[in-house]
Amino acid sequence: MRNSILLLFAALFAASVRAQSIDIIPRPQALTEGKGTFRFSAKTAIVADPELRRPAELFAADIQPVVGYRISIAEKGTVSLSVDNTLEAEEYSLAVTPKNIRILGGSPRAVFYALQTLRQLVAPDGTVPAVIVRDKPCFAHRGGMLDSGRHYFSVEEVKRFIDMLAMHKLNVFHWHLSEDQGWRIEIRRYPRLTEVGSIRKQTVIGRYDKSDESRNRYDGTPYGGFYTQADIREIVAYAAERYIEVIPEIDMPGHMLGALASYPQLGCRGEGYEVWTHWGISKDVLCAGKEATFEFVENVLAEVLELFPSKLIHVGGDECPKERWKECPACQKRIREEGLKNENELQSYFMHRVEKWLHQHGRELIGWDEIMQGGISQSAVIMAWTDQVRGTDAARNGNRVIMTPKWNCYLDYAQTSEPEKLEPIGPTRYLSMRQVYRLDPYDRLKPKEYENILGIQGNVWTEYIADFEHLQKMALPRMAAIAEVAWAYDRKDYDDFEIRAKRLLPTLYKNAGFKFARFFFLNIE
Ligand code: ACM
Ligand code: ZN
Repeated sequence: MRNSILLLFAALFAASVRAQSIDIIPRPQALTEGKGTFRFSAKTAIVADPELRRPAELFAADIQPVVGYRISIAEKGTVSLSVDNTLEAEEYSLAVTPKNIRILGGSPRAVFYALQTLRQLVAPDGTVPAVIVRDKPCFAHRGGMLDSGRHYFSVEEVKRFIDMLAMHKLNVFHWHLSEDQGWRIEIRRYPRLTEVGSIRKQTVIGRYDKSDESRNRYDGTPYGGFYTQADIREIVAYAAERYIEVIPEIDMPGHMLGALASYPQLGCRGEGYEVWTHWGISKDVLCAGKEATFEFVENVLAEVLELFPSKLIHVGGDECPKERWKECPACQKRIREEGLKNENELQSYFMHRVEKWLHQHGRELIGWDEIMQGGISQSAVIMAWTDQVRGTDAARNGNRVIMTPKWNCYLDYAQTSEPEKLEPIGPTRYLSMRQVYRLDPYDRLKPKEYENILGIQGNVWTEYIADFEHLQKMALPRMAAIAEVAWAYDRKDYDDFEIRAKRLLPTLYKNAGFKFARFFFLNIE
């Protein structure tokens, strides 16, 4: 009796240890542990088809700081990468035995994902546990957004942000490029956008108080920065090598003070604009009555399309107050002439026109959920942020939707329940790792509506994030929860995730040279 209890205990112990001995995030569909370990050495070589050489090189570069040597790509070797067309495009298998490692992917992209998994398994002594992993993502759109409008991040920093996405097997970089506080993309036809619109004369210090301007203090230092078209091509190419699509966002008709300061004739009042020096929602927006506005938008987008090959082009549409339109003769004339009921329908008119233009140029429109106000066509993709229910409604209506509700997906929100005590100044709303993980993109939808959910996204707004170290510490580790929901929605298990995350992520991030927040790892909630 006693022996059998001991045996049972030993077996349970072994099972629990084994169940946790290989940590992979996102949690793969299938994982079978083998016996023994493979060992990388300076002599290990990867054999890869020509189209897989670049992913192989990137992998070799990624693990070099961990193992201390650079493995080569050669004709013969013990690590092999191949495309297997019987697999789905994003599906892969990774088989590690003591003798070799074999990766099969439905496409080069899938092989890249397998290599990200392998990267998580390589120990500093070069060993990799024998294992068979199979995986494919639940969602097609697995995104991360960076707000380069409120604060400018250098080309190198943007590339590091892309590295972060790649490491988490995310495949979309949503790049927010224009704001009230700065226009960040060079447009050749409108040089003032960057000469004037990319620079604010100063920045508010600390938390902005919108209720009482006399309480705000400013730093007196001009702030600016923008991406040249050459920078943008470089970044788009860098992302593409990592199988990440860049979706640009030119936010309109609101959040346009960068453009209005540069070309005041595009606003309803036509004068008196400056690039904003503080945060909030500007009442000054593009005039939707003037034809010149649409000419400007189309000319800007024409250059955007040359730079970004993505099918989806994000045109913002969020937070557009209607005060100016209500008092603007041109906007009111447009409302009358087009038989619109009100200013919400004017916004709808604006978006329909831009969408029609994008369609004529072979692209599709994506916008924040406010673009549904006043009506939106079924072909538009809705990015639900104000509340998940907006996305749910849109999906029911037949629109395609990306779920990025702020309550789960705004990675600039606080990481502890006492941010005032523990964290730098920022939004005080608390978004724990658990709360990110809780995101259920299909919540309250019928199975036949699921196909309208393209995926999910984590967003990093940067009003209060002025430098890249801070940015990393907001995105990491919570980006890991975004990745797991995007890949492993159908097998989500927070307790299991928490164990894996605590064991895996600090080393993974450290090895990759990323800074990350410690709160989650120290159980500070
Ligand atoms: C947003 O957070 N204004 C999209
Ligand atoms: Zn107007």
